Amino acid sequence: MNPTATPARRQLHPPPVPASPFPYHPGSLLSASDLTLEEIGHILTRATALEIQDPLTRDRILAKRRVALLFYESSTRTRTSFELAAKGLGADTTLISSLSSSIEKGETLKDTGLTLRALGAEAIILRHNSSGAPWLLEAETRLPVLNAGDGMHEHPTQALLDLRTILAHLRPGVKAVTEETLAGVTVSIVGDILHSRVARSNMLLLPRLGASVLLCGPRELLPDLAVLAGPGIAIERNFEAALRQSQAVMMLRIQAERLAGLQLDLEEYKANYQLTGQRLATQAPTSIVMHPGPIIRGLEVTAGVADGPQSVILEQVKNGVAIRMAVVERALLAADAPGGRA
Ligand code: CP
Repeated sequence: MNPTATPARRQLHPPPVPASPFPYHPGSLLSASDLTLEEIGHILTRATALEIQDPLTRDRILAKRRVALLFYESSTRTRTSFELAAKGLGADTTLISSLSSSIEKGETLKDTGLTLRALGAEAIILRHNSSGAPWLLEAETRLPVLNAGDGMHEHPTQALLDLRTILAHLRPGVKAVTEETLAGVTVSIVGDILHSRVARSNMLLLPRLGASVLLCGPRELLPDLAVLAGPGIAIERNFEAALRQSQAVMMLRIQAERLAGLQLDLEEYKANYQLTGQRLATQAPTSIVMHPGPIIRGLEVTAGVADGPQSVILEQVKNGVAIRMAVVERALLAADAPGGRA
């Protein structure tokens, strides 16, 4: 692509919305399972290339392209990193939040999406409290949609940035991802699996690269049938046993906003599942400690562990910008390609 060329898709009048809802836009990223291993490898490679590129040339890649961030739920990491990523490539961004827009007046997701399209948005980054909302938005607008977290369902860019973090620590120097890249690596995901879109996307992604995923938590937050999610996934209810097997431990927040009346004894939860300095030192002294955030210090992890030498939590946050630059670039370049829609 010539970075100085006038973007082909900027036009005075929005094009009509194509009729068929299938197949989905090639630039969309709705589920971690959408991506082939080759595409995952390409996103990781582009993330690194874009991260080290001179910002003065990088911001010509998507100069003056229009990216909308549509957020129906609060967010710090995902919203900020997507915005910095799109701006870092030169795109103009606009944030639409459910609390300060016509969504408050009852406008539907479809009408909001069509409105953004009419305003010139070329891609929409969507966080929504309803599982499946990004698929609906994509089908209605035919724009590339990037799923920034949909309800209890998926958070694919979080899984990609988690993968980048895991590779940097456990497979440094890996150039291409294959079905064997994470062979021999066990990642434990601990806590509120039931409500976690981060857990779901990681369960869809990591085993495809050969990792074993151990799910750990109480039955209220981790039903037995979670093992049916796919190959490479097992349940280990005993936290110490899970830690002993893990090279990476991904701690999850209890999602109070999604518990829907479920009563948890938090003292019992902490006794069984809190990652303390003592547990980490005795059971997993060389594992990396991950957390998608936001952290509730003193609940799922102690402050000492969150700030300790095994924690890679802020690296995960940093990796979010690089990964999201790659997926925003992918979204808009796919829209430009012959056969790209809209
Ligand atoms: N990990 C994550 O999605 O964090 P935010 O809710 O702050 O975006």
